[in-house]
Amino acid sequence: MQTVLITGANRSIGLETVKQLSKKGLFVYLGSRDLNKGQAIVKELSQNGFQNIRAVELDVTEPDTILAAKNTIENEQGKLDILINNAGISRGFPESALDTPTDEIRQVFETNYFGAINVTQIFLELLKKSESPRISNITSGLGSLNLHSDPNWKYYNVKLASYVPSKAALNAFTILLAYELKDLPFKVNAIDPGYTATDFNHFSGPGTVESAAAFIIKHTLTDENAPTGKFFSNDIEDGTEVSPW
Ligand SMILES: NC(=O)c1ccc[n+]([C@@H]2O[C@H](COP(=O)([O-])OP(=O)(O)OC[C@H]3O[C@@H](n4cnc5c(N)ncnc54)[C@H](OP(=O)(O)O)[C@@H]3O)[C@@H](O)[C@H]2O)c1
Repeated sequence: MQTVLITGANRSIGLETVKQLSKKGLFVYLGSRDLNKGQAIVKELSQNGFQNIRAVELDVTEPDTILAAKNTIENEQGKLDILINNAGISRGFPESALDTPTDEIRQVFETNYFGAINVTQIFLELLKKSESPRISNITSGLGSLNLHSDPNWKYYNVKLASYVPSKAALNAFTILLAYELKDLPFKVNAIDPGYTATDFNHFSGPGTVESAAAFIIKHTLTDENAPTGKFFSNDIEDGTEVSPW
């Protein structure tokens, strides 16, 4: 049975991804920085017929919690097949580059960028024990430098001083990681679930969590011929899905 860990999975896109992967027969570790919340959700899911889901306490900014989660998964499974770095925060809109304090920008980077690196580096050892390891970094079209330079792009005006560079940095990390792991059977990709109605944006997004999670899974449960080091977006309307960095 394939094993997957999803960070920030106690609600919204992460939680829906847990549900869909459980239905597909994977063993799912639901990362939640509040273990009580995570366990309550797992109980509810199990009452609704979802199987093989276990909550693990995991705050991506707290390496001790990541190490403890790694030890739990190692003891129970001996390996990890799939890591989905989903946990993310934003400080909302508008957020001008002219006056946003660096402390606030740094706080967003701690979760969106350093958090994903923390989790990835700690779990690499377990991922290397998988026959077909996958790392999916959940990014955003807002992290695309190309799109942000195009005045005709539909989100051109959404220039968030902390979130945009944090996801651009995560995209760069994805390229570096894919390069470092290119001689192993890893696939490492950046996946944008699309502008989705969640707590994240006060439910302003047009997309559904069902579509967002299905898109993440489509680009995560891939075979050995699939690309690595790419950026896929659920918001690209011409059908290509490969997004410009
Ligand atoms: N929604 C969109 O339109 C959209 C579009 C593009 C990309 N994305 C990306 O998709 C991902 C999920 O977004 P969402 O809309 O589902 O967001 P959300 O509704 O705000 O949920 C975020 C999740 O991340 C968790 N989290 C926050 N900080 C964490 C930390 N330090 N450690 C561990 N978990 C943490 C939250 O846990 P708590 O419950 O404890 O706060 C929550 O479970 C994010 O990376 C986001 O940037 C979203």
